[in-house]
Amino acid sequence: MSGVLLVSDHTSVTRKVRLATGDDVVVVDPGRMPAMPAQLLGLVPEPDDVRIVVLDVGGDDDEGVSGQVDDGLALAGRFAETHPHVGVVLVHSQPDSIGLAVLRAGARDVVPQDASVEDWRWALRRALDAVQTVAPTHQVEATGRVVTVASPKGGVGKTTLATNLAIGLAAQSPTGTVLVDLDVQFGDVAAALDLEPDYTLGDVVASPASRDSLGLKSLLARHPSGLQVLCGVRSPADADAISADQLSTVIGHLKSEFRYVVIDTAPGLHEQTLAALDHTTDLVLITSLDVPGIRGLRKEMEMLDELDLPPTTRSIIVNFADKDGGLSVADVEASIGRKVDVVLPRSKKFTLSTNQGSPLLESQPRDRISKEMGRLVMRFAPLSVNDSGWSGRHRGNRA
Ligand SMILES: Nc1ncnc2c1ncn2[C@@H]1O[C@H](COP(=O)(O)OP(=O)(O)OP(=O)(O)O)[C@@H](O)[C@H]1O
Ligand SMILES: [Mg+2]
Repeated sequence: MSGVLLVSDHTSVTRKVRLATGDDVVVVDPGRMPAMPAQLLGLVPEPDDVRIVVLDVGGDDDEGVSGQVDDGLALAGRFAETHPHVGVVLVHSQPDSIGLAVLRAGARDVVPQDASVEDWRWALRRALDAVQTVAPTHQVEATGRVVTVASPKGGVGKTTLATNLAIGLAAQSPTGTVLVDLDVQFGDVAAALDLEPDYTLGDVVASPASRDSLGLKSLLARHPSGLQVLCGVRSPADADAISADQLSTVIGHLKSEFRYVVIDTAPGLHEQTLAALDHTTDLVLITSLDVPGIRGLRKEMEMLDELDLPPTTRSIIVNFADKDGGLSVADVEASIGRKVDVVLPRSKKFTLSTNQGSPLLESQPRDRISKEMGRLVMRFAPLSVNDSGWSGRHRGNRA
């Protein structure tokens, strides 16, 4: 067996954990939450194989086994004391409301009741990864894709693309996607998503809570789509206090917690952007359709080739495409010596969506431009677009 034991009386949770584990899970519904780990493990045929215990403690209105938050937390605490090689994951309708208690109980994670199959896959892999240090026989690597959006020039659409990309990935993995505003001084991700964050990058690098996964999650802003966001500093002066090492540590934590980490950057190759590139698995480079932009892109690509960075996929985006400037996409391709992956037209729709704080992929999913951006999302999450346009969550992942 996969080593997953699920305690739940919710058919939807059970079905999704079954799908996430390829039906390799033991599900028990003991009527009420057992008090001791041995009582729970006594219900399964091979207790020594159990690596992850998922306790569905339900929501406030629940009855039965899924209505026992306190009992579930107490059991998680006892597992942490007596069975540290077993990771406990809780399920609750409002994870934020019990996040701190979960942390104190020593559980590994808390997953929302309506999490998708994809979210479950990721949460279970991550929990297994966490217990493997205690039980070294289970070698499971779980780090997310880090997608960094960069450009040599300012104002070419990095923030626009990063926010749309993050919204697209969050449609596939709502609890597994985080967007980081690494334009440390002048970042405007919060405005682009109409968020008013309680904490920003400055708070996160300074807070001891950020060294712990659940603590770090508690400092992120939450977009209605489920996307979590680490917003830039409140004032440009605050940026001075943030070092590249600190950023690297935060990104390292995030990629072990999230399936997709999308990073928006400032123009050029500052040390903050280089800190991101050290973790990047997928690099998205943008240029506008003009001579300075294209020259800058070519130089940046040459520079990146010379730096000793981990290998990444590269996607090239031409933004603000129109015929009036006398340049074509073919000119860009000739200049940089490779194909352009996505072309986005100059359109007032972008200006409007920026001003309204609502990415186009979210507000107009069926628009031609959204479909084009959806093609970029597909490079990282291949199940996200159907023929009629941007589809939001893939059918296979629906609850
Ligand atoms: N294809 C487009 N057509 C028209 N307007 C666009 C397009 N793409 C982006 N914009 C607009 O251009 C402005 C700058 O875009 P954005 O902030 O995304 O660029 P940026 O590269 O992040 O800039 P900076 O380097 O300052 O961070 C925004 O108002 C945005 O709405
Ligand atoms: Mg920007």
